[in-house]
Amino acid sequence: MDKLLIRGGSKLFGEIYASGAKNSALPILAASLLADTPLRVGNLPHLNDVTTMLELLGSMGVDVMLSDEMEVQVDTSNIKNLNARYELVKTMRASILVLGPLLAKFQRATVALPGGCAIGSRPVNLHIDAMRAMGAEISIEDGNIKARVEGRLRGAKIIFEPVSVTATENVIMAASLADGTTIIQNAAREPEVLDLANCLIKMGAKIEGAGTDQIIIQGVENLNGATFSVMPDRVEVGTYLTAAAMTGGKVKIKEAKPEYISSVISKLEQTGATISLGEDWVQIEMNNEKPEAISLTTGPYPSFPTDMQAQFVSLNAIAKGNSTVTETVFENRFMHVQEIARMGGRISLKGNTAVIEGIWSLKGAPVMATDLRASASLVLAGLVANGSTIIDRIYHIDRGYERIEEKLKILGADIERIS
Ligand code: UD1
Repeated sequence: MDKLLIRGGSKLFGEIYASGAKNSALPILAASLLADTPLRVGNLPHLNDVTTMLELLGSMGVDVMLSDEMEVQVDTSNIKNLNARYELVKTMRASILVLGPLLAKFQRATVALPGGCAIGSRPVNLHIDAMRAMGAEISIEDGNIKARVEGRLRGAKIIFEPVSVTATENVIMAASLADGTTIIQNAAREPEVLDLANCLIKMGAKIEGAGTDQIIIQGVENLNGATFSVMPDRVEVGTYLTAAAMTGGKVKIKEAKPEYISSVISKLEQTGATISLGEDWVQIEMNNEKPEAISLTTGPYPSFPTDMQAQFVSLNAIAKGNSTVTETVFENRFMHVQEIARMGGRISLKGNTAVIEGIWSLKGAPVMATDLRASASLVLAGLVANGSTIIDRIYHIDRGYERIEEKLKILGADIERIS
């Protein structure tokens, strides 16, 4: 099994490109199920989760053609079965995103109950309740969600509590082909929801308000294919900026959309970093020897993203001063804490808050990746630790970071993939 070996201590300097956003690519690929003609999706990142989604579509009989530039053409006209099998779904929760499109287009779907990152219970009740509100009959049989609807799904008023990103996306997709108008209240405002809506609008959908907490979808009878390029990955961009804030140096990220990570940028500025940015690039220069500790609380967009929480725990572990990091989106999303503690980090957990005492430096150690973002935090910790860190189970990182070791090497890090 692959591992990452990191020898800490190098400052990061240079320029890299942001990859396409995983969390935008996955719903957009699922949306291809709604179209009568092929959908072409560009700027897809090379990631295990994207491969899993393509395999999932392929397993249903969907024709997937991949070009060298990672542009994919998805043609659902030969779809044979409407079943998302457990073998694929268990590796990626986001497989639930096929539920809405399958129901809306084919009136039937069987989707295995998902697994994915071990961060709290992560139920799918909001997805199921919303599809029921739109007229679907749903039962849970043998670990599968079995759904069907007589005729078309019907427009409905859906109020989410709590706000959910993929449930909002599932409803937008389902409502695009439903009969009548759907109003989503307390909708997720994440930029990836807006990206999906923009793709659907290009396919012929009638959607207003995406990016706000109320989205109105007027169902149409057919959607066509289109060509769409997915947005840059804001979590990836935030992760490399945080790495530079921890190591020191100067890093520019191109083809990024910094407007989508304002909350992260403002926290990085508070650590002492100088950030400059344009519409599609962002640069960080770390003037201080060490970042200042920074307290934060995660929340749905536009608040500080839960997907950046682990990376900031790492930053605070070696920062000047003490801090608290509070997680409000997921329960049990602090598995990185005990691994960072193995590297000497002084962190204690009080409920959903990590209390962190910044120390001068971490020590390299063998550590274990436990989920996607937790793994990223261990990479960051390894970059600043004294000595060597070996990170095991990096398949978690490969789910969401494209060529992480290559990008960090470009910036001067001493990192390699070993088996
Ligand atoms: C998405 C992102 C993930 C990110 C998360 C929060 C994708 C593919 N994944 O995950 O990277 O960390 O948003 O920004 O876009 N909940 C329920 N019932 C449900 C669904 C969710 O109670 O049916 C709860 C969850 O347990 C959690 C909260 O809602 O506490 C938010 O989760 P949600 O926004 O649904 O996360 P995902 O869409 O799975």
